[in-house]
Amino acid sequence: MSAPIDEVAAGVAAVAIAQDSPDAGGEQVVTPWDVAGGADGKIDYAKLVDDFGCSTIDDALIQRIEKATGCRAHPFLRRGMFFAHRELDQIVTAYEKGEKFYLYTGRGPSSEALHLGHLIPFHFTKWLQEAFKVPLVVQLTDDEKFLWKSLKLEDARRLARENAKDIIACGFDPRRTFIFSDVNYMCTPFYLNVLKIAKCVTFNAARGIFGFAGESNIGQIGFPPTQAAPAFPDCFPHLFGTDKKSLRCLIPCAIDQDPYFRMTRDAAPRIGGHKPALIESRFFPALKGESGKMSASDPSSAIYVTDTPKQIKDKVNKYAFSGGRLTVEEHREKGGDLDVDISWKWLNFFMDDDEELKAIGDAYGSGAMLSGEIKKKLVECLTPMIVAHQEARARVSDAVVDQFFSTAPRDFPSMFGVLAGDAPAPPTGPVSFQGGEHLVASNAPAPRKEGGGAEGGADTAVQAGGGDAPLSKNALKKLQKEKEIAEKKAKKAAEKAAAKAQ
Ligand code: TYM
Repeated sequence: MSAPIDEVAAGVAAVAIAQDSPDAGGEQVVTPWDVAGGADGKIDYAKLVDDFGCSTIDDALIQRIEKATGCRAHPFLRRGMFFAHRELDQIVTAYEKGEKFYLYTGRGPSSEALHLGHLIPFHFTKWLQEAFKVPLVVQLTDDEKFLWKSLKLEDARRLARENAKDIIACGFDPRRTFIFSDVNYMCTPFYLNVLKIAKCVTFNAARGIFGFAGESNIGQIGFPPTQAAPAFPDCFPHLFGTDKKSLRCLIPCAIDQDPYFRMTRDAAPRIGGHKPALIESRFFPALKGESGKMSASDPSSAIYVTDTPKQIKDKVNKYAFSGGRLTVEEHREKGGDLDVDISWKWLNFFMDDDEELKAIGDAYGSGAMLSGEIKKKLVECLTPMIVAHQEARARVSDAVVDQFFSTAPRDFPSMFGVLAGDAPAPPTGPVSFQGGEHLVASNAPAPRKEGGGAEGGADTAVQAGGGDAPLSKNALKKLQKEKEIAEKKAKKAAEKAAAKAQ
């Protein structure tokens, strides 16, 4: 039995990421906190797309992306791992017309090490960033993990910095990437958006979207607007200026995060913003099989970015669920079962070479390749990738983390297009991680007067001179101009008064 790559990739579907899967009596459950398959343990992605109301990504859209960027689609896109979207076509249309956008993704820092599933959105986001040449913001929800897990706030904050090192190790460029922890960054422009979104969502709506219950703590109930807000560019005046519509936003994530952004899209027009677009992936399967969990409390359930080559080899050989048959004779006769074999599914995610992948699928599916041999292929594929990740992470010093977290204002236009040369060295002096309404990017679009909604964008504009944070060049210029205008007006008024008196 042999299967074309695309068909099998579509079968990668059936996976549970699960953190704390609820007992849902055979009903599949996908929320940002719980993922559990239906009666057979599998996720029915077609049903999910239907229930959530998103769209599937078709070949025509992939081709448009390739044409607009001049880049061959990433294997995650070609092979259907990123399979669903919301208004991605509109982002592509706007981009084709020369309109700019930014990327927004995130991580909930609840464990020391990321597992391979967590790398999926970051590897893909890096590709999107390089293909479209756009800025990226990465939210670390230390607040969310404090509210949901038995984790001390200090630990969630420390893990945010640790996880940031793994994100940076994926290869992002600090010149157009800003990483922030909610607890550190929360500032007036961000909080203004949080409040406006919160006012648009009733408790009944939140309960319907997220499944909150009487036992939910009120921090949890109030949290979703904090994950929604970064979808509006005026949360980041030091990057994008103070206009709520200066840029559109595209959010890459796995489909478990969709509820947050359904809520965000509903609130967007009511607060005068663009609805964010989404590009959503299936779940990377657990090592022990598609209905299993990748859990931090069971190290044999997943491979972590901290695992040694020996651990990788031992885990794959011992625990990777096999589609191999009971005896060599039966295997040679029937071939391996690609629909359940985890080595095959994982190779689909991480093996770049399409031809080699197809050859492995053909050989394993026909019985010419044995289970031990496909596991060896997987170990050979994963080990250099994880070793390279560890080497890159070892190069991420505290100063480099500070560089990505820094709220120093950027020059807006220079975050788009081709970046010349290498990124500058990280700063050596003190760095601020907190945003502020006075830290405004230079040359960013000015806020529009009309706003667009009841709570339009213009009200987050710089209140120059009202606080103790240092003023950006632009704010100083604006202040100077206002002073000159006021002086002129006063002079004219004085002349008028003098003329009248004569
Ligand atoms: P978190 O930390 O649970 O997951 C981080 C990102 O990884 C995705 N993910 C997976 N993707 C593929 N296969 C898996 N098995 C798998 N497990 C997790 C998640 O969908 C996510 O994209 N609340 C969020 C953090 C966050 C965020 C965001 C995520 C804040 N803002 C914006 C995406 C976009 C969280 O706890 O993610």
